[in-house]
Amino acid sequence: MAEVLGVALVGCGTVGTGVARILRDHSDRLAQRGGRAVELRHVVVRDAGKPRDAAVLGALVGTSSEVAIADPAVHVVVELVGGTTVARGVVLAALAAGKHVVTANKALLAAHGPEIFEAARKAERVVCFEAAVAGGVPIIRALAESLAANQVTALQGILNGTSNFILTAMADRGVSYADALGEAQRLGYAEADPTLDVDGSDAAHKLAVLAQIAFGVTPKSGDIEKVGIDRVQATDIRFARELGYTIKLLAEAWTDGPEVALHVAPVLLRHTDMLAQVRGAHNAIQVTGDIVGETLYQGPGAGMMPTASSVVADLLDLAVGRAQRTFAAAKLWSTAPRGFTLTPSEKVRSRFYLRLSVADQPGVLAEVCRMLAEQGISIASVIQHEESATTAHGVPLVIMTHTAETGRFRAAVRHIAGLPSVVEPPVYYSVAG
Ligand SMILES: NC(=O)c1ccc[n+]([C@@H]2O[C@H](COP(=O)([O-])OP(=O)(O)OC[C@H]3O[C@@H](n4cnc5c(N)ncnc54)[C@H](OP(=O)(O)O)[C@@H]3O)[C@@H](O)[C@H]2O)c1
Repeated sequence: MAEVLGVALVGCGTVGTGVARILRDHSDRLAQRGGRAVELRHVVVRDAGKPRDAAVLGALVGTSSEVAIADPAVHVVVELVGGTTVARGVVLAALAAGKHVVTANKALLAAHGPEIFEAARKAERVVCFEAAVAGGVPIIRALAESLAANQVTALQGILNGTSNFILTAMADRGVSYADALGEAQRLGYAEADPTLDVDGSDAAHKLAVLAQIAFGVTPKSGDIEKVGIDRVQATDIRFARELGYTIKLLAEAWTDGPEVALHVAPVLLRHTDMLAQVRGAHNAIQVTGDIVGETLYQGPGAGMMPTASSVVADLLDLAVGRAQRTFAAAKLWSTAPRGFTLTPSEKVRSRFYLRLSVADQPGVLAEVCRMLAEQGISIASVIQHEESATTAHGVPLVIMTHTAETGRFRAAVRHIAGLPSVVEPPVYYSVAG
């Protein structure tokens, strides 16, 4: 059997502990599949005094990533610190020292992908990152390897388990956004500070990583338009249901010839849509390829063991030598042109759900219809319940449009928002399919 593959874990919290457990509990299976033993040699943390799983980590725990990286018996550095500052330093130092890197850090790749991959190519080492998107779901390999004969033409993903948990709880049990978020925090699905999850940032980081593999584009911070779930109201979930739809936070990429639009937003999906049925903290990604058609990947998008499962798969790819071959061919985050350019989401065509709070007086609907018509937008259906009580917030008027260009729809909404009879800011979402 070939030389042992020596591993240093830098960061050993949720995911790192899972990786250490797999390396201990399944060493025979891993040695057989990797063609060589995979051995944990260092565990680097911030606070060596914290209580930890001694049975798993033994005497390996230390606080110096420099010592771990410099050890000649370490061949792979697994970065599981998170964030973009310390993690960037660890990854660049590991590559400079001639070590391969495995990371689960989508924020790092989204912010520093070009620099890190250039450093890896220069050092003739590999960066693996299956766990960075959708935790235990093997979407990176699916895109980079299994669908390699295809050009991806569309990609839609539920990439943030916390948001999906909250929206599922709101839809199933009618709880408010605040109560659903509190429940997600109690159950450990949401961080104490859930901002990056609920404002769409986490999903946007993951979409940036997927877009690099599928289209070779490198969106900068701000290039991916994002709307989170923090303003989704129970009223909209109820109206959507009445119309036959479920609201999901989707990360989407749409191609139009050589252009690709990327965005993250709550979207209305038909109840029968495969993605509409993804519940709780699960992730799912629907990928359309020009040869294969529609494919769907679903599973646990986070959590200790599912995420560790993907990290260890990367270690096995390195042990076998597969990762070294595919990395060289993929040319990720390189300047090699792949033909796609980013286009603003304004150009994407979609149907729309529009909810207005209007004064209960004659002529309002006619005015709204006129403003939509001025932008060439026609209406598919309208809901205005007779029994809706008039309050200071007006009565709800819900409109479903036919397909329209996003920019024109938004222009119409801006005009509609200025009508004196529209008493609250309009709420709108795009409608899939
Ligand atoms: N959790 C998930 O379900 C999940 C899923 C997919 C991807 N990820 C990604 O995986 C990565 C790790 O996530 P996690 O949930 O495992 O994080 P975590 O539980 O917060 O663990 C972070 C680890 O990093 C260590 N650390 C922090 N600052 C450090 C420093 N300056 N030097 C050395 N070690 C330092 C911490 O040390 P102490 O233990 O001493 O505090 C801790 O062991 C992140 O990039 C995350 O986005 C996580």
